[in-house]
Amino acid sequence: MNTLTAEQERLRPAQKARPLIRTRNLSLGFGSGYVLQNLNLSFKERRVTALIGPSGSGKSTLLRAINRTNDGLPGYRIEGQILFDRVDIYDRAVDVCGLRQRVGMVFQKPVVFHKSIYENVLFGIKHLRLHSKREYPDIVEAQLRAASLWEEVKDRLSQPATRLSIGQQQRLCLARAMAVSPEVLLMDEPTSALDPKSTAAIEELILDLKGRMTVLLATHNLRQARSISDKTIFICNGCVVEQRDTEEFFTRPGHDATREYIQWNACDCD
Ligand SMILES: Nc1ncnc2c1ncn2[C@@H]1O[C@H](COP(=O)(O)OP(=O)(O)OP(=O)(O)O)[C@@H](O)[C@H]1O
Ligand SMILES: [Mg+2]
Repeated sequence: MNTLTAEQERLRPAQKARPLIRTRNLSLGFGSGYVLQNLNLSFKERRVTALIGPSGSGKSTLLRAINRTNDGLPGYRIEGQILFDRVDIYDRAVDVCGLRQRVGMVFQKPVVFHKSIYENVLFGIKHLRLHSKREYPDIVEAQLRAASLWEEVKDRLSQPATRLSIGQQQRLCLARAMAVSPEVLLMDEPTSALDPKSTAAIEELILDLKGRMTVLLATHNLRQARSISDKTIFICNGCVVEQRDTEEFFTRPGHDATREYIQWNACDCD
């Protein structure tokens, strides 16, 4: 009988990836104007997709739409559909809390709660009543280890999370997001405010998630997009200019606008 090697086992799910999130004729806007128009995108499961584009091109608006964090913003408008696992996430019947458990998000600026480090990690778990109390210490340790934060905080878990450095807070947010076992992680420039060490820790974590979790990563750092993602989508002036496999995107871009954008940001991409 044929048995798969560990490497084959690791690659197998990625090869079979199916689209987990799709947008259909999606337009997003605030007030009377559109930020993004008529997007037809698909994000495959267990793949890392990078969203790149100039400031103001709508990367954050798109990510926030996917776990409905734009809901309630003044003037927010959505037309078309976002399908997650073939369900329209803006359907009235969709439970937004349940959606956010399955589709977690990490923001550009870390948002820690005014609670201890320990309680921050457990926030979603307690809210959703996912585990029993006796499991909490192990979960906290496992999540902090996965976020490369355990060694730095293991002796001060009861201290306020707000006392951590920004890089540590971002890793804590990641641990909190991962603790509820989401299927999708939306990451909006998660390393833009971080030093090289914290950036490397988060990039390693994303690489580790590759093949296991669906990640959408908005970034201005083209080196990061190139080294981490499987697919890159370039958004400009509210539209998708180009989307293709990352290596091909950077070595053989199909549009002049993409070529120019890569050249302009070349210092990031060496
Ligand atoms: N809450 C809001 N109300 C009104 N307009 C908004 C709101 N949020 C975003 N916008 C507008 O939507 C457009 C896209 O913004 P968005 O933050 O999505 O861009 P971005 O690509 O993430 O930019 P950056 O790279 O600077 O983070 C901008 O013109 C912005 O002013
Ligand atoms: Mg943004």
